[in-house]
Amino acid sequence: MDVQSNGLFISFEGPDAAGKSTQIRLLANYFNKLNYQNIVTRDPGGTAFGQKIRKILLAKETNVAPITELLLYAADRSQHVYELIKPSLDKGIIVICDRYIDSSVAYQGYGRQIPVSLINHLNNIATNKLIPDITFLLDIDTDISLRRRDSSNLDRLESESSEFHKRVRQGYLKTARLYPQRIHIINARKPISVMHHDIKHILREKFKTLFSKNEIIAHEEN
Ligand code: TMP
Repeated sequence: MDVQSNGLFISFEGPDAAGKSTQIRLLANYFNKLNYQNIVTRDPGGTAFGQKIRKILLAKETNVAPITELLLYAADRSQHVYELIKPSLDKGIIVICDRYIDSSVAYQGYGRQIPVSLINHLNNIATNKLIPDITFLLDIDTDISLRRRDSSNLDRLESESSEFHKRVRQGYLKTARLYPQRIHIINARKPISVMHHDIKHILREKFKTLFSKNEIIAHEEN
């Protein structure tokens, strides 16, 4: 398989405390070693404007309407694609994004129970149908992910009930079943180095042309 634009668009999904940030950092380091230009960004909050939206979204307001929340995530995403993701891909840069469209499907669709068809429609509008080339879903049992978090410092979404977070997980798994070509499930209970190895292996298999010429890979395989 080859990539849809000049760059490569990789998203990471999963619940809080699944280890996304660590895997993203390791992957960016790996690309740096290969001298592949890359950026790490996040959704929500990947632009200056988006940072403001992120603050509003995660503050512990009460009585936020589910559709208000959905629209704010979409507004952040629209700005993110317009200002950073698309221009970077057009320059041939690898974009690693911490959360993207599947988060809205899982959290607002399954968590808040807004129809998924509406979320998909809005995602298409916000992103101009820019879909990641590949997505890694870090999957973990909800009870474990909830225990792993710092419970003294939870944001508005994190403070939701365990039933909400269980629906989010099921939403992610259903989405992964719908798009098996794009979404790869990574068992987030595995050790960090094993997860990193699995992620690199999947990338190399899927984007052979991108990685084939690089000697570091051959070296690393040994
Ligand atoms: P983060 O702390 O992982 O960056 O994510 C912020 C929170 O926002 C996290 O609890 C998941 C949630 N979220 C949604 O509910 N919908 C979305 O579309 C995105 C991107 C995140």
